[in-house]
Amino acid sequence: MEQALARGVPGILGQCGGGITCSTCLCHVPPAWLPRLPPPDPDETELLTLVPEARANSRLSCQIPVTDSLDGLTLRVVPTTPLGE
Ligand code: FES
Repeated sequence: MEQALARGVPGILGQCGGGITCSTCLCHVPPAWLPRLPPPDPDETELLTLVPEARANSRLSCQIPVTDSLDGLTLRVVPTTPLGE
């Protein structure tokens, strides 16, 4: 999320600053890459159940630390309406 904001990626708002409360950083991860990401913590999992656009391969990009092991990963940005609006 932070890298997307820094680069002006459309559709990533990061409204809560990574606090796992807004879902405006939602993305879809290619299924083959899911095992390479750290697992979602319970707060992320719970929030994803509330987001209509979420799928089994969705993650909050604010919860994905950028590391060398993710070199080559391409995420699909999924615009969402902030929860509560
Ligand atoms: S920036 Fe709000 S949940 Fe990721």
